[in-house]
Amino acid sequence: MVIFGVTGDLARKKLLPAIYDLANRGLLPAGFALVGYGRRDWSKQDFEDYVCKAVKAGARTEFRENVWKRLAEGMHFVTGNFDDDAAFDQLENTLTSLDRERGTGGNWAFYLSVPPDYFADVCHQLQRSGMAQPGPGSWRRVIIEKPFGHDLDSAHELNRLVNSVFPEDAVFRIDHYLGKETVQNIMALRFANQLFDPLWNVHYIDHVQITMAEDIGLGGRAGYYDGIGAARDVIQNHLLQLLALVAMEEPVSFNPQELQTEKVKVLRSTTPVYPLSKTTARGQYTAGWQGSEYVKGLREEEGFDAESNTETYAACTLEVNTRRWAGVPFYLRTGKRLGRRVTEIALVFKRAPHQPFGDAVASELGQNAVVIRVQPDEGVLMRFGSKVPGSTMEVRDVNMDFSYSEAFTEESPEAYERLILDVLLGESSLFPTNEEVELSWKILDPILEYWADHGRPDDYEAGTWGPASADKMLGRQGRTWRRP
Ligand code: BG6
Repeated sequence: MVIFGVTGDLARKKLLPAIYDLANRGLLPAGFALVGYGRRDWSKQDFEDYVCKAVKAGARTEFRENVWKRLAEGMHFVTGNFDDDAAFDQLENTLTSLDRERGTGGNWAFYLSVPPDYFADVCHQLQRSGMAQPGPGSWRRVIIEKPFGHDLDSAHELNRLVNSVFPEDAVFRIDHYLGKETVQNIMALRFANQLFDPLWNVHYIDHVQITMAEDIGLGGRAGYYDGIGAARDVIQNHLLQLLALVAMEEPVSFNPQELQTEKVKVLRSTTPVYPLSKTTARGQYTAGWQGSEYVKGLREEEGFDAESNTETYAACTLEVNTRRWAGVPFYLRTGKRLGRRVTEIALVFKRAPHQPFGDAVASELGQNAVVIRVQPDEGVLMRFGSKVPGSTMEVRDVNMDFSYSEAFTEESPEAYERLILDVLLGESSLFPTNEEVELSWKILDPILEYWADHGRPDDYEAGTWGPASADKMLGRQGRTWRRP
């Protein structure tokens, strides 16, 4: 595996630790080789030291000297720019010698952990040097990270560029949410059980809330984030993928094509609900208390243009126009510096058509819900009314809770472990296709265009649950956001 951008944050915090964890779990072939490519003038030893530090700081599993040594033997670093013919030729030589020395068989994966502005140069170089073309019986794959464009047109252009060098089945687009155990569990929950499916439709579900809340601010990423914003950063990818998994029909099988077929059908049927002035909300955080810490507002963050309209909170209402879902609003929201870090999908049920216990009981009761807790406290929760012990018929909401950490002894692997392994195995089920990416932009573009034409986002104080306009957005429909 070759990593471009190996000195970046993503590689240091996620990719390198995940590669070590895979090695430690015995899931990498003995000959596996890792090649870093970048501008630094590093020796093999410098690269090993850098990776070792990243592994010790970020790996999930215990550090074992023998595993590390075997992995480090296969590490190399090539110095160069992304448009440097000679350096790419040297990379090609390095990979060819690794094939000879370690038996890697011409199977090369290129991880583009670099901003999309560099995709063109790197792809061009991989093509020019012949590295993109596999020999007989071997494979070449490319792994790309979002952002996959900033709207439908740019995504289309990017896909065209990547596909002009690598055929679609060699392209692995990372959406790391799909690598999370709890996200894959959506499919187990829905399709391995009989309990949920009869209720999973417009006849029983009132609405769906998909929340991805973060307590962190932009910190060092302010420069990158300015101009992107919450909707492009996570709704376009993670949240729409969650929506697709929740709303799709059962695939014929779990092979990648069948799964993608079902997701694509959902994305094709999904549209914003209009008018956008009433069905969307966006905000920017201001200074406030995040737990016990007083944190600065967005406009004071270094690298962020104080005049910028980039949102750090985004909420929208979507509709999936299928027989199963027509008329059920899907509310998606995400934000930085919110009350706490939590990602969850809540299916909120309609109220019982008749309440035989009287008005007092009915007014106490909330709506039933199935909540898929993606993170943290991974699990599934069901909320329903239950009799309070005593001599009167008092009913109150209770939770029935399945927790991963209590039910299973083994810890869940990190998303990147699963995804990197799947790339090496050529298993593409957990990677959104070109078509999914473009359809997701098609859903989001009208909202982004509307926002671009309608002034500033609202303010919300750090540590709260977003701007008042987001509460109004649901309030108009007689609903409220869950406070996870
Ligand atoms: C990334 C976003 O895709 O996901 C970040 O670009 C965000 O802004 C991150 O912080 C959150 O990932 P996770 O796995 O911690 O929920």
